[in-house]
Amino acid sequence: RLKLAILISGRGSNMEALLRAAEDPAYPAQPVLVASNRPDAKGLETAASAGIATASVDHKIYGKDREAFERALDTELEKAGTEIIALAGFMRVLTPWFVGKWQGRMVNIHPSLLPKYKGLHTHQRALDAGDTEAGATVHWVSPGVDDGEIIQQARLPILPGDTADSLAARLLPVEHKLYPEALAKACATLQASNS
Ligand code: GAR
Repeated sequence: RLKLAILISGRGSNMEALLRAAEDPAYPAQPVLVASNRPDAKGLETAASAGIATASVDHKIYGKDREAFERALDTELEKAGTEIIALAGFMRVLTPWFVGKWQGRMVNIHPSLLPKYKGLHTHQRALDAGDTEAGATVHWVSPGVDDGEIIQQARLPILPGDTADSLAARLLPVEHKLYPEALAKACATLQASNS
């Protein structure tokens, strides 16, 4: 099993979905660390109660120095023996240094049907565009924001009367099913390239 670190910034419901999937000994990733850039992230408590090691690396301490923050984060990742990283609601843009170091070993979940709506406010933008479907994408992380190779997507119809909040709420359980599946695929790809 690949040693998995999950990076979060908040609630961590996708993280929980990954932890749950990994309770199956046949799942190809084994969680070794949950780390947050926000010390008050709710998901840190959830992870700790599940018996997973946690780390909090407060980006605010490093001010504008993104690399200094990432070096501190990277130290935690290395200490835990991380082999693959899953970003799960991790809301910091990563520098080319960090992405370069972990490229091919780091995936992200994004709440849109990429390549549509990179960045923030994905659901409002889908509604404003008059789209008839929304969705989520798990992709490899590359230097461009939300730009890496797509691993798997899940789609969801937009209903009359939908708001950004109602869409986000309906998408969440879809994400929770998608992410463990897509991460398993990513692990298989990585293991094939390692062997
Ligand atoms: C999820 O909807 C995820 O797709 C999104 O944030 C939410 C995190 O929820 N990610 C992004 O917007 C990344 N730019 P969670 O903390 O409960 O998993």
